Amino acid sequence: MVKIAPSILSADFARLADGVQAAEAAGADWIHVDVMDGHFVPNLTIGPPVVAALRKVTQLPLDVHLMIEDPDRYLEAFADSGADVLTVHLEAAKHLHRTVDRIRQLGLRPGVALNPATPVVLASEILPYVDLVLIMSVNPGFGGQRYIPTSAGKIAELRSTLEERHLWGVEIEVDGGIGPSTAPEVVAAGATVLVAGAAIYADGEVSRNLEMLRRAAGS
Ligand code: DX5
Ligand code: ZN
Repeated sequence: MVKIAPSILSADFARLADGVQAAEAAGADWIHVDVMDGHFVPNLTIGPPVVAALRKVTQLPLDVHLMIEDPDRYLEAFADSGADVLTVHLEAAKHLHRTVDRIRQLGLRPGVALNPATPVVLASEILPYVDLVLIMSVNPGFGGQRYIPTSAGKIAELRSTLEERHLWGVEIEVDGGIGPSTAPEVVAAGATVLVAGAAIYADGEVSRNLEMLRRAAGS
C-alpha cells in the first residue's frame, strides 16, 4: 500500500498541531516536515524545536526532509527532537556515506534526496545503505509548484535498479506537485510514499483531499 505523507509546509504555521492532527485523523501515514536553511534552497522554514513540538502532538512517524547545506551539523539535534526518517540531499552532503551511517547510528531511518537535475545513477553507491530515496519532482524550496513530468521516468529507473539489486526494502518517495492528477503516474512508476502539501492543505479540506489522493493512488 502506498503511504501518504502530508507536507506541513502548506499547513497554517500558526496552527501546526491542528494541521498535523487533521492529517492523522484523516489517515495519513507519515508527517512530512520540510527544513530549509536559506542556503541550499532560497527559503527558511523550521528547525529542531518545532520538530520536538510536533513530536508531542502526533503518533505518526515524522519524515524530516533536510534541505540544508552540510547536514552533519544538525543530525543529532534532529534525532533528539524525535524525527523518525531523516533525509539529506545528495547535493548537500560532502561525505554522504558517513552522513547516512551517522543517521543510522543515531537510531533513525536514513534517506537520500535527489534534485530534479540529479541523475539516479549518482545514488547508485549509497542505495544499499538507505531506507528511502526521495525523488524531488519540483525544485526544492517552495510548496505549490508544478510537477516536473520527467520525474516519473526517474522513479521507474530507480525502481528497476532497486529490483535488479534485490533492495526490496527501500522506499521511493516523491515530493513536489503531487495530487490526484499526478499520483497515478508516479505510483505506476514505482513510488511508495507520496508527499503532498498544497493538494492536502490548500483549501483546508484535509480529510476529503487525503481521501481523493488515496483513491487516485489506488491504495
Ligand atoms: C518543496 C518541499 C515539499 C513541498 C511539496 O521543497 O520539499 O515537501 O512541501 O509541496 P507541494 O505538494 O505543494 O508541491
Ligand atoms: Zn519535502
